[in-house]
Parts: sequence; structure tokens; C-alpha cells
Amino acid sequence: MGKGIKIVTIGGGSSYTPELVEGFIKRYDSLPVRELWLVDIPEGKEKLSIVGDLAKRMVKKAGVPIEIHLTLDRREALKDADFVTTQFRVGLLAARAKDERIPLKYNVIGQETNGPGGLFKGLRTIPVILDIVKDMEELCPNAWLINFTNPAGMVTEAVLRHSNWKKIVGLCNVPISIQMGVAKLLEVESSRVHVDFAGLNHMVFGLNVYLDGKNITQEFLEEMTKHKSDTMKNIAAIDWEPDFIKALGVIPCGYHRYYYKQAEMLQNELEEAAEQGTRAEVVQQLEKELFELYKDENLAIKPPQLEKRGGAYYSDAACSLIDSMYNDKRDIQPVNTINNGAIASIPDESAVEISSIITKDGPKPIAIGDLPVAVRGLVQQIKSFERVSAEAAVTGNYHTALLAMTINPLLPSDKVAKQILDEMLEAHKEHLPQFFKEEVIS
Ligand code: G6P
Repeated sequence: MGKGIKIVTIGGGSSYTPELVEGFIKRYDSLPVRELWLVDIPEGKEKLSIVGDLAKRMVKKAGVPIEIHLTLDRREALKDADFVTTQFRVGLLAARAKDERIPLKYNVIGQETNGPGGLFKGLRTIPVILDIVKDMEELCPNAWLINFTNPAGMVTEAVLRHSNWKKIVGLCNVPISIQMGVAKLLEVESSRVHVDFAGLNHMVFGLNVYLDGKNITQEFLEEMTKHKSDTMKNIAAIDWEPDFIKALGVIPCGYHRYYYKQAEMLQNELEEAAEQGTRAEVVQQLEKELFELYKDENLAIKPPQLEKRGGAYYSDAACSLIDSMYNDKRDIQPVNTINNGAIASIPDESAVEISSIITKDGPKPIAIGDLPVAVRGLVQQIKSFERVSAEAAVTGNYHTALLAMTINPLLPSDKVAKQILDEMLEAHKEHLPQFFKEEVIS
């Protein structure tokens, strides 16, 4: 990395890319990125060129010598990369809309990363990630893969279990959003707050909250129940039952509403789908507006409208992580990484989302012993769901996919699971070649 760092972003035409570019610009002094390669597929060519031009204007305005390269040739980009970030969506937002709409027909939560939607996003995504990893083994064997592609926990699990590649870190903006939310509620600078995180992606808990080093978890939980809920933009902020939060004893993430408030969340999704559309449908419109803004040749910063997206601030997570790895900072950040015994009731070789010490050799998860009994069972069940889903994605085995769907706690029965599975397999056929292989009869 003597000549500066080479970063490759797969799914570079994403509307989120300006965040990432802003993050690299802000950190240029400690993280001298020499080349940023934005890679996309032919269908994303137009978006790539719009976002790429904005990225070029941003680095020019900031006066940093980061070269922006745009390409549809992933292998060309990957050659000698230092860090590869992935943020793509197989089937684009149209596929997400199906993940959200179809389960709702059966009165089941339709969500990007939870329940049937999470399973199908995984089935579409995991084979592509495993192909990228194969290219990386050949073209940039020393690089780290920083994955944002959802379902990020399942994807990390799949890479750890079904490839020889170990240099992967899964990232999410949920923990950083919780940390910022805690600071906001306490009305203090977020640097004064520290939260110990443990669990799985979109299933992570804040176990302890510290203010200036003092553990204030109980007081914080008490305080939390006095305020209106605040979640990320993509999750309905339906208030928690105050007594439940006090009983739980740890801070849930926004996505826990799908499990602990399933009835209310489902009702809300049904109403929203009928009124303004599902989240994917809303986001399709938001994306149109964002790309119109990005086209403006006078725009040379990340527009504030991007903060209407659920993934706002994700670049802080990504760029801080890369910065700490590159500089061997050994600070603590919550990431998805191999458990290695950090959470006692999760297999050592599985992916967990946990506060970790970030070193040049990757994250070292900070052992917590075990999760409180109140949340341990749900976390284990979701881990089983992720594992079985990843296996289904790799094998294309129908029964494994049915098993994954049925053991997910958001499904009411094996029968409904099968109905949804069959309808979704058909709807996503074009992106699931592993399930529709021609039988060779000899
Ligand atoms: C949250 C999640 C991300 C997810 C995003 C969706 O931030 O942590 O994993 O991709 O929301 O946001 P959107 O604006 O697309 O609904």
C-alpha cells in the first residue's frame, strides 16, 4: 500500500456512493486513498456514470488527489485492490418490492432483511458474493472484503462457511445509529457515549451503555421509555411498551420490532403498502429524485436528501473501519466477524455482530461470555435461519430453502411457509439459477 490505497466498490452506481466518497474525503489525511474504482453491471451503467461524475466533482472540490475510475469490468477493477466494498442489490429495487409484497399477501411481514424477504435476498446475493470472492482469491489475495450487501449477517456467514476466504468484515449502520440515538437522547456529544454491542446483524443488542466511562445502562433504559421512539428511516417507529424495555434489560435495535411487535408492524406494513406503497416502492421514487439531484453539474457535495434513506451514515462505519484497519488503530467498533468464542452460545465459526478491536489483521471480537437469557434463544434461532438459508443459497436445494423459511420466527406455519416459498421462487426465478438447474438425464 506504499503508493496509497486502492479501493474497489462493487455496486458503485448505488445512490449511497456519495456518502462513501464523502467519508474518504474527510479522512484523506489518515487514509490516503489513491484510487477508488466504482464497479457496476451493464444495467447499472447510467447510474454509475451519474454517480461517478458526482464523485469526480466531489474530490475535485475537496482538492484531494483521489482518482475515480468507473468500470463494468469487475476483474479489471479488482486487480491488486487493498479493500473491496460490496453494496449491490441483485435484481435491483424491483426484486426488493417483491420480497416485501408477496409475504404480505399471506399476512406475513414483508421486509428487506427479515423473514421471507431476508431469505430471498440471501438466495439471490450469496452466489454472487461467492463469485466475487473467487475473483479476489485470484486478483487481490491480500485484500479485505468489507460487505454491506444485505442480508449482511447471512452473507458474512456464507463466506465464512462456504468459501476459503476469511478476510471479510460485514458492516451495518444499525449499531452506529443506536450509538447516535443514545447520545441524542442524553443530549451529549456522541464521543462521550460507548455502547457494548453483541448479537447478529439486524438482531444486535446494546448490552451496556456508558457515559464518560460510567455504566448507566439501567438509567438509560429508564430514560428511553420516556421518549418517543426514533428508528432508522426504513423502520416504522412504533413505540415500545415501557415495561417491556425495562424487563428486557438491554437495548433492542429497530429491527427487533418485527419480532417483539409483530402484530403491530404487520398491520402497519399492510396499511402503508395500501396507501403509499411498500418501502421499496417508496425508495424507488426517492432514488429517482436523488439521481435527478446527482445529475446537477453544480452539485459537488453529498446532498442532504440522502439522509432520507435508511442507510444514512453508513460511510462513517465503512470509512472508520478501513481507516482503523489501515492504521492498525485498535479502537473498538461493532462489526460482523467470526465469533471465535466471543458469544458462548453461538458456534465459533459463525458470523456475529459484536464490538471488536479493529487491527490491521482484522477485527478481534471482545468476548462477552453469553447473551442474557432473555435474548439468547431468539439470537440462536436467527443464527440457525441464517445458516440454513446460506446452505440453501449455495446448494439450490428446495427442501433446505423450505426448512429455512419455516424455522424463521416470522412464519406462522409450514404450510404458509411453503406457499410463500413457491410463489417467491417463481417470482424471482431469473435471479435464482441454482434452483432451476436443468436435470441432465443420461
Ligand atoms: C438500514 C439498514 C440497512 C438497509 C437500509 C434500507 O439502514 O441497516 O441494512 O439497507 O436501512 O434503507 P432504505 O432507505 O433502502 O429503506
